Amino acid sequence: MNLEQFDILKDKRVLVTGGAGFIGSNLCEALLNLNAQVTCLDNFATGHKHNIAPFLPHKNFELIEGDIRCIKTCEAACKGQDFVLHQAALGSVPRSINDPITSNDVNVGGFLNMLVAARDAGVKRFVYAASSSTYGDSEALPKLEDNIGKPLSPYAITKYVNELYAENFYKTYGLNTIGLRYFNVFGRRQDPNGAYAAVIPLFVKQFMDHESPVINGDGSYSRDFTYIDNVVQMNLLSITTENKEALNQVYNTAVGDRTTLVQLTELLKKHLSSFDPAIAKVEIIHGPNRIGDIPHSLASVEKAEKLLNFKPTHTINVGIEAAVEWYWGNLRR
Ligand SMILES: NC(=O)c1ccc[n+]([C@@H]2O[C@H](COP(=O)([O-])OP(=O)(O)OC[C@H]3O[C@@H](n4cnc5c(N)ncnc54)[C@H](O)[C@@H]3O)[C@@H](O)[C@H]2O)c1
Repeated sequence: MNLEQFDILKDKRVLVTGGAGFIGSNLCEALLNLNAQVTCLDNFATGHKHNIAPFLPHKNFELIEGDIRCIKTCEAACKGQDFVLHQAALGSVPRSINDPITSNDVNVGGFLNMLVAARDAGVKRFVYAASSSTYGDSEALPKLEDNIGKPLSPYAITKYVNELYAENFYKTYGLNTIGLRYFNVFGRRQDPNGAYAAVIPLFVKQFMDHESPVINGDGSYSRDFTYIDNVVQMNLLSITTENKEALNQVYNTAVGDRTTLVQLTELLKKHLSSFDPAIAKVEIIHGPNRIGDIPHSLASVEKAEKLLNFKPTHTINVGIEAAVEWYWGNLRR
């Protein structure tokens, strides 16, 4: 990625909600490296202080510890900002199935608060984390932005409602928005702990502990696993693009390649066993399929390539190698 194209972000004020989380902390880091003025708003529901600890002493970094369910907090955070990168939400399909009310309060109520606050503060662009779960029960492959199905979980409903609100806020109030439909993002700082950990960090941790990972189903389900650097690039392109046609759209944020769960575990084993050869012998267990899971997911990234000039820099192989190296050096065991 050519970082020079983002030099115009120097001294720009960018609010990253959910900035103490996996994706948000990577966005904060990239923005600080570009000399932007970064505000992180987070209530540490699923994010961690250790994710942002290195940024706290930075003169261009401000932390607001607060909840997006509070409109006053959103208003204070949006004041004076040029751009918002809205990442704060409760992720995970199973979490939303267990507790749909809290997922809705945060992901829909909190989102609406942020839109209202961004509108009232005159923010230039509101870029938000949408989700591939919006494709729901559509079986079409590859996924094209305009062809979605019916949502399969409360989480997917919340993310689709975000898109509807964003589109409406542009039409009604002229707030410029861009929605990024993330596809199974992975990489440094993604949390391997807790009941709702994502598959890659969970499996990495289990392999490192010589525990057998459990694949839901026969492992033939596939996903467009997307390394974090590709996601950072999409966010930076979204706030800097001068292409007016690119605004007020949603984009698949992925690589455009799919990997089955069995292939994924082989890849993880291959890279992890270069650190610890015993990992090559850890066996995989198969469990039942999970409610709300779609069999296959593969993005078309043509729209992002065409309108945002997106060029994915990391394939899954390169991304997994980098992620594994990071976990090996950083995971607290
Ligand atoms: N990781 C993925 O593969 C993926 C895929 C699709 C969409 N997304 C979306 O991307 C965004 C970031 O996800 P992530 O993987 O970094 O998850 P994460 O859990 O690491 O980050 C979310 C952050 O939001 C914060 N947060 C939650 N509720 C909040 C509240 N009420 N007020 C303030 N902050 C709050 C959390 O503390 C956390 O720091 C989310 O909107 C998620 O739905 C992620």
